[in-house]
Amino acid sequence: MIRTTVCDLFDIEHPIALGGMGSASSPALTAAVSRAGGLGAMGCHYLTPEQIRERTAATRKETNKPFGLNFLLFDTREDSFAAALDLRPAVMQFAWARADQDLKSYFDRAHEAGCKITYMAGAVPETVRAAKAGADVIIAQGSEGGGHVGWMGSLPLIPMVVDAVGPIPVLAAGGFADGRGLAAALALGAQGILLGTRFLASVESPLHQNFKRAIVDSDGHDTQLSEIPDIAAGLVWPGAMTRSRRNKFVERWSGREWALRQNRAEANARLRAAREAGDIDEGPLSMGQDAGLIRDIPPAAELVRRIAREAEDILARKLPSLLAS
Ligand SMILES: Cc1cc2nc3c(=O)[nH]c(=O)nc-3n(C[C@H](O)[C@H](O)[C@H](O)COP(=O)(O)O)c2cc1C
Repeated sequence: MIRTTVCDLFDIEHPIALGGMGSASSPALTAAVSRAGGLGAMGCHYLTPEQIRERTAATRKETNKPFGLNFLLFDTREDSFAAALDLRPAVMQFAWARADQDLKSYFDRAHEAGCKITYMAGAVPETVRAAKAGADVIIAQGSEGGGHVGWMGSLPLIPMVVDAVGPIPVLAAGGFADGRGLAAALALGAQGILLGTRFLASVESPLHQNFKRAIVDSDGHDTQLSEIPDIAAGLVWPGAMTRSRRNKFVERWSGREWALRQNRAEANARLRAAREAGDIDEGPLSMGQDAGLIRDIPPAAELVRRIAREAEDILARKLPSLLAS
């Protein structure tokens, strides 16, 4: 069995974490990952204090294992953050602060509530900033990943972050979907992986079945980095674009972002309706290039165990067999 420093730090069995995906989180998915020995997480930044309390209670009903609550700092409501702290989650999973935000004040409050802190970033200076502010774990997120990402690929970014923030443990994110990815991340100096897209295609994921199928059907070459979903939603993300499926909606506005800005309200209403209806041509589907590695929609627990088993086999048998005796 693979054990790394994050297993002890978070009190988990496998060094495998779920990204807190605001638009695609649910108590069922969070609990399933944690119950299986990984670290579940729930995206909270769209939620009211009451919704955070309800969803945390629903997760705790399904598992007494640790899990995290996720906040996008640039878009965090104080009342929601305070409500989350009152619930004393095992982990506070932060990402995407504005340059002028004081990370330490958020981290200190989370530490006072007894939480461990993770901070996700896609650039070395931002991870150093979080390390200096007191993060317990840094998540280095490469641009292969789904959702909002920076510009650096995982392969160079992860060891650069490991070197920059050590001895603080690093989790690798962006493009990881199987045991090969976990073994590679460990070889790069990370202490585990955090996954988004892989868990979107799971039984417990709240995504519409059509979107889960679109991930399975993807060959990984059909994603695009753009600002289009954020322009439609009226969001200005600090230092990120979105990697999402290149569908009719994205193609319609590519290179015509100015026109999207002028038709924002109508386009956003259509986008939301298409998401509800499971329309994969017109609805938004954030997903990573690792969609090309995803071929099934199993229970999340099976994924956690499968990834751990595959990585263990690579480390215990495949790689040692390459060494000359
Ligand atoms: C649909 C979707 C929504 C996401 N929402 C959030 C979020 O609210 N907060 C966050 O920290 N990361 C979010 N992410 C990023 C993930 O935490 C993670 O970094 C990313 O999915 C890793 O890349 P992968 O998709 O290749 O596994 C999201 C990702 C996806 C695919």
